[in-house]
Amino acid sequence: NGNQTLTMIKPVAVARNFTGPIIQKITDSGFKICAMKMTQLTKDQAGEFYAVHQDKPFYEDLTTFMSSGPIVAIILEKENAVDDFRKLIGATDPADAEEGTIRKLFAESKSHNAVHGSDSDENAKIESDFFFSKLERH
Ligand code: CMP
Repeated sequence: NGNQTLTMIKPVAVARNFTGPIIQKITDSGFKICAMKMTQLTKDQAGEFYAVHQDKPFYEDLTTFMSSGPIVAIILEKENAVDDFRKLIGATDPADAEEGTIRKLFAESKSHNAVHGSDSDENAKIESDFFFSKLERH
């Protein structure tokens, strides 16, 4: 609907106890949490989530990494959510991310980049439906 986006806090960030600080930064930036869960994806589920990247050279490593430990999936709401959230997280590679962005603060590399953010309204809906039923949204 244009006002929501889907984020995942990725396995290494969860394992390093960055879940709390990352959520704090997100809510301090004006996003409201509409749904949230911790879960661990199977490799097949990670493959389905990232199906758009199935022909990329990094697909195998990406799906192995994303199924390697628990993640936290969150639906976020704010006006202009997709674009504003992508600004908040910064560039895919933390080396290119601006100071103060979530990836600059919490990511170690391009593949272990702390958080995912939907890249369009259409994908925000697909990705939100992947994780959450109607009953799990507020
Ligand atoms: P994300 O926003 O979750 O969407 C796709 C992910 O693929 C991206 O974050 C990166 O973590 C990962 N990715 C993109 N490009 C590369 C790359 N060249 N090498 C490794 N991982 C990549």
